[in-house]
Amino acid sequence: MRVVILGSGRGSNAEAILKAQEAGRLGRARVVQIFSDKPDAGILALGPRFGVPAAYLDPAPFKTKLEGPAEARYIEAVSACQPDLVVLAGFMRVLKPGFLRAFEGKIINLHPSLLPSFPGLDGIGQAWRRGVKITGCTVHYVTEEVDGGPIIDQMAVRIEDSDTLETLEAKIHAAEHELLPAVIARLSEQQGKARETTRA
Ligand code: GAR
Repeated sequence: MRVVILGSGRGSNAEAILKAQEAGRLGRARVVQIFSDKPDAGILALGPRFGVPAAYLDPAPFKTKLEGPAEARYIEAVSACQPDLVVLAGFMRVLKPGFLRAFEGKIINLHPSLLPSFPGLDGIGQAWRRGVKITGCTVHYVTEEVDGGPIIDQMAVRIEDSDTLETLEAKIHAAEHELLPAVIARLSEQQGKARETTRA
């Protein structure tokens, strides 16, 4: 299963995926490309470290979404990788119908809350301020409804009285680093088996 990762930030989840791949824990999945909409994002530094092509792709003209010329650029670049799965690992832009149609059913997103609670920006801070006792992270298919697509899997994190926002963030990130590679591995096994059945 060919995997393309899109991200905007430090890339700790992309790193978890690549480490899982190195350790043989990513099933039949293989990361073939990393793209970022931020030229100085930490995620791009993972490319040389793990021997995976990593490139900045210009997201202009919009600040928070991928539309118009940027959407066309992303569709062309991602299509060239022939992905079976597009993983949004901290990609902080809203995807529009053109991109969603081009990779229909193949785009998954990681979100730092137990959806449908706390969608949108700052899922961890939202849960913290609301005072819930259990939050976590979610991997879901991406549809036009932001953070609203079918849920694939989730991992819960308990908020203890001793937690601070910082310790909660660390706990959620640790959960994400476990959940996302495990989901990718599982999807790759499912796809592999489906292809074998089709061939048989
Ligand atoms: C992760 O916590 C992910 O859940 C979040 O961005 C972070 C990326 O961290 N994504 C969203 O909030 C999407 N709405 P990373 O760059 O270290 O992987």
